[in-house]
Amino acid sequence: MVNISETEARYTSGVYAKRPLAMVRGKGAHLWDDAGKEYIDCVGGQGAANVGHANPVVAEAIAEQARTLISLTEIFYNDKRAAMEEKLVAISPNHANRVFLCNSGAEAIEGAIKFSRYATGRTGIVAMMRSFHGRTMGALSATWNPKYREPFMPLVPDFSFTPYDNLDKAREAITDNTAGVLVEVVQGEGGVHPGSREFLLGLQEICRERGVMLIVDEVQTGFARTGKMFASEHYGLEADFVAVAKSIAGGMPMGAVLIGERVKKLEPMIHGSTFGGNPLACAAGVAAIGFIEKENLAGRAAELGAYMKGRLQRIESPMIREVRGMGLMIGVELKQKVTPYLHALMDRGVLALPAGLNVLRLLPPLVIEKSDLDIVADQIEHVLNHSAE
Ligand SMILES: Cc1ncc(COP(=O)(O)O)c(C=O)c1O
Repeated sequence: MVNISETEARYTSGVYAKRPLAMVRGKGAHLWDDAGKEYIDCVGGQGAANVGHANPVVAEAIAEQARTLISLTEIFYNDKRAAMEEKLVAISPNHANRVFLCNSGAEAIEGAIKFSRYATGRTGIVAMMRSFHGRTMGALSATWNPKYREPFMPLVPDFSFTPYDNLDKAREAITDNTAGVLVEVVQGEGGVHPGSREFLLGLQEICRERGVMLIVDEVQTGFARTGKMFASEHYGLEADFVAVAKSIAGGMPMGAVLIGERVKKLEPMIHGSTFGGNPLACAAGVAAIGFIEKENLAGRAAELGAYMKGRLQRIESPMIREVRGMGLMIGVELKQKVTPYLHALMDRGVLALPAGLNVLRLLPPLVIEKSDLDIVADQIEHVLNHSAE
């Protein structure tokens, strides 16, 4: 029998810190490894699996579209793309009236950065400390962690950072050359930190006063994760650009920039992508968003998220500093490094993520059963109290 892990370990680029598991099948919030062992999945494709693994509605849409038309560049119109664009505009939290379709979160951020510069004729981008926006050169230039940035200096000029949730400092950081302010509604990789209403709406007001584009990164928070279709809706935040990806298309690679009405007309040729808006991803996206709406996954995330946060907050462990989050985007900040606990959980059939060095992050598919969340909470309690090695 082919050893999957050995083969991959030999040929993979090396840029990923791999766990010693080969996953071969998924259903809902469960994954199975090549030995047939079952896991409860709170990694959720790093947030790309909101509708659940192997979602039958999405699988059917992909199969049908694969037999009809897979690739078609945006120089032609297409039925599935038209439907996807119409849907994204209809659900956009910022009254968007146009959409740029692409293939990943980083690419959505790149698009929003370019469009901000184009729309304002300025060059500066103000991003937040603790931010994560992706690993391509523009998105990386707006990503805070020096570990990701330093090997690749020099990055794109005119990016600066200001502390998250500090409106006075943000006001000072914005200059007459600022094209855009880029912010996550809930900082994900940075440790699961929801922004305050005063900060986010205050930023929006300053941006409007100063003619600056507000770019909201909903790559991780979008598509019902936080208990609303978009986290912006919790605040009434209406950005000029909303960058989305991850769960946009049921796990198919796709990203989008939802473009608000304050943004001037974007002219042909200023941007583009061969695979952007391909009919296969669009068909998957229409099916996935339809499923999120029909099954009210936002309501489910709100309800189960509150339940799970309560369960985690009741864990008695000297190891826990704080439990925080929004909907089913939950962070458990520990007083120690999180990695040993993630491994202990994995051995006990639960997959979870880190966020920084000491936050345990849960991003389960939103179809997860309450009984599975109970098991996850029990296992977290167990490993925190029994295995610090
Ligand atoms: C908030 C946020 N923005 C952007 C990205 C980058 O997305 P991608 O990995 O699809 O390029 C991520 C990925 O984790 C993210 O969490």
